[in-house]
Amino acid sequence: MSRFSLLAVAFASAATLLSAQDAPPAEVMTKGQQVYMQVCFACHQPTGLGLPGMFPPLASSDWASAQKPDRLIRMVLHGVTGPITLNGKPFTTPAPIMPPQGAALNDDQIASVLTYVRNSFGNKGSTVTADQVKTIREAEKARAAMWTQAELDKIPVN
Ligand code: HEC
Repeated sequence: MSRFSLLAVAFASAATLLSAQDAPPAEVMTKGQQVYMQVCFACHQPTGLGLPGMFPPLASSDWASAQKPDRLIRMVLHGVTGPITLNGKPFTTPAPIMPPQGAALNDDQIASVLTYVRNSFGNKGSTVTADQVKTIREAEKARAAMWTQAELDKIPVN
């Protein structure tokens, strides 16, 4: 390999690294915030802090900032039920149910709202694409039940 192409490779990988950490496009964040303020805010609150003992916070949440969004997409599509741990501690609520949104929200809306959540409230995560949501919606199309943490734990996020 010539010195020039080595340099080109170095530049290309630096660019990939940079873009992986870039802030998501503003229009995606705006769209995501709109969906958040229609659907998620009622429980997780506009601040993303949730309600103690009732709804878990999305701020500084290990779920929200996971490297890959594969669990988050499934949670929004089909909902979640049963006890969960958050940042390594049990989150206790008398109503451990997050309702499914797969019928109400399209792939683009789910991608935007998750991008918003992953890049708000102090979180920093990759942009979620409508294609990622579409692929998981297709892969899980036989599913009707809400997810439990035991099942979600089997979905890799690294
Ligand atoms: C009706 C209330 C409700 C709505 C609406 C709701 N959630 Fe939740 N959410 C919950 C509850 C309750 C849990 C914990 C579920 C459990 O304990 O099984 C949860 C858990 C979560 C978690 C994992 C725990 C954490 O705090 O990080 C994420 C991420 C999440 N919700 C994101 C969302 C997003 C994004 C939306 C909107 C698309 C949304 N939720 C809508 C109630 C809700």
